[in-house]
Amino acid sequence: MQSTRETVVSRGRPVLAANWKMNLTPTEAEAYAARFLELHPPAPDRHVLFFPAALSLPAFVRATQERPDLEIGVQDVHQEMEGAHTGAVSAVMAWDAGARWGLAGHSERRREFGDDPELVGRKVERLVQAGLRPILCVGETLEERERGQLAEVLRRQIEGVLGGLAPRWRAADSAGPAPLIYAYEPVWAIGTGRTALPEDASAAHAILREEIGRFLGTQVSAEAVILYGGSVKASNIDALLAAEGIDGVLVGGASLDPEEFAKICRANGASRSGERAP
Ligand code: PGA
Repeated sequence: MQSTRETVVSRGRPVLAANWKMNLTPTEAEAYAARFLELHPPAPDRHVLFFPAALSLPAFVRATQERPDLEIGVQDVHQEMEGAHTGAVSAVMAWDAGARWGLAGHSERRREFGDDPELVGRKVERLVQAGLRPILCVGETLEERERGQLAEVLRRQIEGVLGGLAPRWRAADSAGPAPLIYAYEPVWAIGTGRTALPEDASAAHAILREEIGRFLGTQVSAEAVILYGGSVKASNIDALLAAEGIDGVLVGGASLDPEEFAKICRANGASRSGERAP
């Protein structure tokens, strides 16, 4: 059943992703699943993804096994596949437990655990090796934004990952075994209740698309799926998805309540620059 959960995404079919962070125990994840399944019937015109905590992931996979339309990912993996790394989770373990997606570079990992661009690049590589689809998170702090460093910060974060991986993918004559998804998450909007204006998010997405193009070419960058994250809720989802270049959202706090996340998953819009899937 799990193997039928898909990770093929394209622009125009919005991605609605829940990042539970260090919330919801295995028991709570099961209860959440039971409620969410009632609230959200399968909807083939969108992707709904969940990132439970690693210990809660198998319980959530089991509790949703009748619903392969719900896709599941791991919040973090170690940069090695196995070995003496007490407390860590590897990409192959996550895959074996039923995850098909993986986050990398979330600002909380960068800030609290020292995940620098080089380390994030290695984690992306492990995710790809294990067959997981990475979502690479990038974004600037408030100070960086106020100093006018938005473009520079996004460039550095993209370069840290694609600078190493893109030449290898090119040598293998491919844009990557599983093209990355990106999430623009301004640090000042995460968990603060302060959402970026749709036009500011669109502007940042355009910068990101240009940076992706520098490493992977214009066709890959035009097709790249870029999510927005930072205080997304049911009341702002439609405006965000209607904005130019926003292909979906990564939701933290508001995804912890199945009622609120189900409302977000009923969102109307698709990115204006992507075509709506039939
Ligand atoms: P938030 O978190 O929705 O609670 O702001 C978003 C995220 O960190 O992915």
